[in-house]
Amino acid sequence: MRIFSGIQPTGEKHLGNYIGAIRQYVDSQEESDPVICIVDLHSITVAYDPEDLRESTLSLAALLVASGLDPDRCTLFVQSHNTNHAQAAWMLSVVTSFGELRRMTQFKDKADQQEFVSVGLFTYPVLQAADILLYQTDAVPVGEDQRQHVELTRDIAERFNSRFGKTFVVPAVVTPKLGAKITDLQEPAKKMSTTGGTALGTVQMLDEPDTIRKKIKSAVTDSGREVRRGEGKEGIENLISIMSVSTDQEPEAIEARYDGAGYGDFKSDVAEAVVELFAPIQERYRELRQDPAELQRLLAVGAEKARALSGPTLANMYERMGFAKP
Ligand code: TYM
Repeated sequence: MRIFSGIQPTGEKHLGNYIGAIRQYVDSQEESDPVICIVDLHSITVAYDPEDLRESTLSLAALLVASGLDPDRCTLFVQSHNTNHAQAAWMLSVVTSFGELRRMTQFKDKADQQEFVSVGLFTYPVLQAADILLYQTDAVPVGEDQRQHVELTRDIAERFNSRFGKTFVVPAVVTPKLGAKITDLQEPAKKMSTTGGTALGTVQMLDEPDTIRKKIKSAVTDSGREVRRGEGKEGIENLISIMSVSTDQEPEAIEARYDGAGYGDFKSDVAEAVVELFAPIQERYRELRQDPAELQRLLAVGAEKARALSGPTLANMYERMGFAKP
């Protein structure tokens, strides 16, 4: 069972990234050797600062390891360190239609936030398909917002296979049972996001404990009093999901426990649960950041493994598509 996923280095990583994705990567190490890619080539499709990209790439590697990714039990690497991705993306772009890319909701959302809309932002999902398909991936753990991209990847794989012969495994999307879409604490209709959300409604993984407390205690809820899920209770439902994942309890148990309690007490407990969840990760992160040479070494080992895993598929693509041998 091959598991592959990707995460962008730029922008601070938040509670939604952790619950929707990072935690799934860590858990998947139990059953397989997941391939986790820091997708720096994707980050350059919108306005960015080169110095910041270099720093945030190392910073994300440290954060992922601090969260529990073990470089001995997974393949953790930086996308640009394996040039197979860019090559495969070019080839896959000829089996992807303009119309398909135009329908991608993430493109529309991101394009609206940019002064300069790059062609790279438009073809971004093709590079994502290349990431996934190069590793003969069976399952892609992601948050709900990436479902459309993985579904497009499936269509691209099927089209390539039927035109050039079976080359790729057609991957499945895997979203977590709870927390596939963590919402902004201030605007429960929106997903939590560093770029599109509110600052007060986005809990960063590296926020100070008091900042986490302040953000969660000021979460927007509803005018009722019951701690339960349901219509019109999106804010509370989001907090129940956060509490559930942070403390490993079923939502039903949380609803029963807070039956009759006010929102204030519930929010304080959610805040403490998140502070406790992130405290050991933050501590380990700070230690890892002290030693950039060690991080570079881990990533070099990861890149080597990634090149070895993806090389045969890329060679197959060249062969099937009819390129003359060099
Ligand atoms: P990115 O970097 O925006 O997000 C990383 C992961 O976090 C999930 N996520 C969320 N989950 C729940 N609630 C939220 N509010 C929330 N916000 C983000 C995302 O779904 C994602 O799983 N295009 C991808 C990166 C990528 C990729 C890939 C993913 C590139 N190649 C190949 C999978 C496979 C992205 O921008 O994720």
